[in-house]
Amino acid sequence: MNFRDDLHEASEWAASYLDRVGELPVAAETRPGDVRAALPAAPPEHGEPFSAVLRDLDEKLLPAITHWNHPRFFAWFATTGSEPGILAELLIAALNVNAMTWLAAPAATELEATVLDWLAQLLGLPREWHGHLEDTASTSTVAALAAARDLRPGGVVYASEQANFSVEKAARLVGLEFRTVETDDTFRMRADFPLADATAVVATVGTTGTTAVDPVPELAERCAEAGVWLHVDAAYAGSAAVCPELRWCLDGCERADSVVVNPHKWLFTPMDCSALWTRRPDALHRAFSLVPDYLAATADAVDLKDYGPALGRRFRALKLWTVLRMYGSEGLRGLIREHVRLAQLFASWVEADDEWEIAAPHRFSTVCFRHRTADNDELARRATATGEIFVATTKLRGVPTIRLAIGNARTTEDDVSRAWEVLRECATAP
Ligand SMILES: Cc1ncc(COP(=O)(O)O)c(C=O)c1O
Repeated sequence: MNFRDDLHEASEWAASYLDRVGELPVAAETRPGDVRAALPAAPPEHGEPFSAVLRDLDEKLLPAITHWNHPRFFAWFATTGSEPGILAELLIAALNVNAMTWLAAPAATELEATVLDWLAQLLGLPREWHGHLEDTASTSTVAALAAARDLRPGGVVYASEQANFSVEKAARLVGLEFRTVETDDTFRMRADFPLADATAVVATVGTTGTTAVDPVPELAERCAEAGVWLHVDAAYAGSAAVCPELRWCLDGCERADSVVVNPHKWLFTPMDCSALWTRRPDALHRAFSLVPDYLAATADAVDLKDYGPALGRRFRALKLWTVLRMYGSEGLRGLIREHVRLAQLFASWVEADDEWEIAAPHRFSTVCFRHRTADNDELARRATATGEIFVATTKLRGVPTIRLAIGNARTTEDDVSRAWEVLRECATAP
């Protein structure tokens, strides 16, 4: 094993992959079981060179990779494994610290507090809140609901019928009943439901289906009056608030009890990285703090294991810090603005074509639309089968709808224009 040579090979592989990813078929063409069948059934007895791993990556795995880092990946919420993030992931593995307690990782613990403060400033959230990183928004929501349950056990978690399913899962995990609230004709959660039996309300800023923004100021007012925990799931759209003209999306969040934003969705940070803030850190601490004999607390220090479900914690702050430093606020604003511009441009092409229609308001970088007469599920499948683009569908009020989600830093106007051409060709093909 020669680490320097292998490192060189790995970095060459990564750089040339990013150079050519746009020419690969976006979505994998493979059937369940194909990859396993191509791999040895047992581990090697003797160590193999790194080049053998890379060869199998190219030959056996790459054909079955769906390329999330492809500029024409428009499915679900498109994301970016950015160059700064990739570099930082290497350093994180080299350091391999476990930020469970301050003593175990002083620099990681304090860098995490610093980047959460930086991000709060960028998004216009209160700086005095406690912030830390979890792996995913699913876990962040579990943490928030566990704190809410300890304050008010036995109640109901209310969220929009358009809320991400991770909210229902989190409610189930912490032993709370989950109920959905109807949405209005723009898919926003109604704010006039009864709160008497509520433990928590989860409002979404940027729902998964249509990117609707629930009425957070009204919900915050009602939750404050009723003493109910308000958690805001801004996993996708929260990042938009780095742009002053989009900051409205987090209006009212300063009155929430907790807010989650995922830098691994629309802030150019590789999986996984979810930022959770709370104005009630004591409640999270009560829900999660346990001090076993072998992990004594340090006076005047914060032990991050006491604020969420996991003990072991990766040094995620290093990648978010690297992303914030290497792009700068200006760079992040530029990318978000470009994505919003491209989405609005795409929507204008759809609107101008009588055979197609827009299915929901589009304020960020995601457009929901459909062909008026075709089978839209089949259309999305056909478009994806070309290998040129990847689009996924959802159902809005039971009607199949295609979503074009822009979120990759490498996506250009040409990519979006090609997506429109492919969709139209597929709609007219026999
Ligand atoms: C609005 C919203 N909330 C939460 C989630 C769950 O995020 P994660 O995969 O980080 O758990 C998603 C995922 O797409 C989402 O769209």
